[in-house]
Amino acid sequence: DRAPIIAPSILAADFAHLAEEVRAIEGAADWVHVDVMDNHFVPNLTIGLPVVQSLRKATEIPFDVHLMIDDPQRWAPGYAEAGAYNVTFHAEACDDPVALAKDLRAAGSKAGLAIDRDTDVTPYLDLLPHLDTVLIMTIKAGFGGQKFLPETLSKVRAVRERIGRDGLEIRLEVDGGIAADTIEQAAAAGADAFVAGTAVYGADDPAEAVRRLRALAAG
Ligand code: DX5
Ligand code: ZN
Repeated sequence: DRAPIIAPSILAADFAHLAEEVRAIEGAADWVHVDVMDNHFVPNLTIGLPVVQSLRKATEIPFDVHLMIDDPQRWAPGYAEAGAYNVTFHAEACDDPVALAKDLRAAGSKAGLAIDRDTDVTPYLDLLPHLDTVLIMTIKAGFGGQKFLPETLSKVRAVRERIGRDGLEIRLEVDGGIAADTIEQAAAAGADAFVAGTAVYGADDPAEAVRRLRALAAG
């Protein structure tokens, strides 16, 4: 099933009203994307496990947790135990992605590998059978509101080709600068899951923005 997944990023939401902000896209979106940053892996600090645990009780929508943190081997399984649907860690921060993916699945979530702007995806293509999601950054990880980088789509094409060749069941996600004017190129390159922060929470009607993105991604 290649029906597009739309995952609004709460990084662009009002952190003083997270439950309401998530409820605003419940029903329209497939997942909510939760950006965890530790001020070490990226030069920005957001939210962590206690917030995810509290927010989990406030909504039914699946959580797509994106860990932009050092030492994911230590921290990632806690997010799975907190009820995340998918937990994505960065290739640049992890020595043994296959082992961590196994730990995440054992802890009850799907396992995702993220590839930052300056990282080649080629060395990771052979790991795809161990993963449930692959996230290609279409910006440099760390901040919302950046400009989409079309040159990153060659990595999306490479992953899509391998998924097709080997008949893998993997969601191929893009994150960064995804909006009405960029989502179609990402979909054409082979992405089938789309994170959008500013394009959703910067809109007057976030649910309507999700529906619009979905229509564009579906082509
Ligand atoms: C940034 C985060 C993104 C961010 C995207 O490192 O991973 O999820 O929220 O924000 P926009 O959609 O505004 O580029
Ligand atoms: Zn993200």
